Amino acid sequence: MLGRTVRWRPLCAQLQRPVTLVGSPSLLPTRRYAHQLNEEFLVEKPGIKAKLFDGKKLANVINSEVGEEIKKMVAQGERAPHLVAVLTGDDPASKTYVSNKAKSADKCGMNATTILKDGSTSEEELLALVDDLNNDDGVDGILVQLPLPSHINTNRVMQAVSPAKDVDGFHIHNIGLYCSGNPSSALIPATPLGILEMIKRCNFPTFGKTVCIANRTKNIGFTLNTLLHSDGTGDATVLQTHEHTPREQLKTNCRQADIVISATGIHKLITADMVKEGAMVIDVGIIPIKTKSGKIKIVGDVDFEPVAQKAAVITPVPGGVGPLTVAMVIRNTLYIAQKSLRFDFKSIHEDKN
Ligand code: GUN
Repeated sequence: MLGRTVRWRPLCAQLQRPVTLVGSPSLLPTRRYAHQLNEEFLVEKPGIKAKLFDGKKLANVINSEVGEEIKKMVAQGERAPHLVAVLTGDDPASKTYVSNKAKSADKCGMNATTILKDGSTSEEELLALVDDLNNDDGVDGILVQLPLPSHINTNRVMQAVSPAKDVDGFHIHNIGLYCSGNPSSALIPATPLGILEMIKRCNFPTFGKTVCIANRTKNIGFTLNTLLHSDGTGDATVLQTHEHTPREQLKTNCRQADIVISATGIHKLITADMVKEGAMVIDVGIIPIKTKSGKIKIVGDVDFEPVAQKAAVITPVPGGVGPLTVAMVIRNTLYIAQKSLRFDFKSIHEDKN
């Protein structure tokens, strides 16, 4: 691969034993029939029509499910799963993300290691580290925290991570698996996976419904589009928009949507006139703004108060989608350790040689 040999650990020998999956391996079991909203993760707020989705509560439930599975593994004499995060440079936001993942892993009884690399680390050095981690049987999941310093080719490093340890789901083989109708065999990026889990656990219907996504990145909008329109996964009609979609067109698309998902980083992009009564509005924006008192506050893409008077369900920022992303990284690591994904990369590896 790109002039460098990347050794992937063959998995096929370990795939035969029965495993218990946490949650359902099907991402969104198709629901054609009448259904009732599950209120377990929804909170009512005085004066607000929509129910607020409690992302921390769902993340805690997922972490406990993962923790139970780890206890069972350990009781059977297996080691706890091990997630290794590689943090290059000293970006404060990256430090916070990595430390949140390590804390969550710790709470679940998962081992978590953070490898700190200086901002001047060369690309070759980082690739050599990834190669070592790929071949370390004591490591289940590898997460190379982004952004990487500008002298490093990010794509080259991400594609060097073994697809079998790719907790981020960024490797082309994982993308290929879920794009080719095999989502339960793939590692799927944590943010879209968290959003699908939220829709599923709230029992919000997608079959035959319309979803409008404001985002086209491969880690969010592209993945969500692929999974939400797929046969037997979401079965929805997906309207994909992005930062260059004219505002009137965005409005036309959003107004048709039963579910609106916005991840643009543009504060108040989604306004009440764009939202259909009774829609689910999922805000993935994380935008720091300065308040009048000079403090930094995190807000989202949605004009929250007015939209919350029309939507049936809305995710707050912070406390909505954010906690789920971390929980899904941890759950992906468990899946890898349980060898519960039915992929076999040995043949891909052999084809390359
Ligand atoms: N930096 C910000 N979000 C992410 C993510 O989801 N994965 C990685 N590896 N780095 C990030």
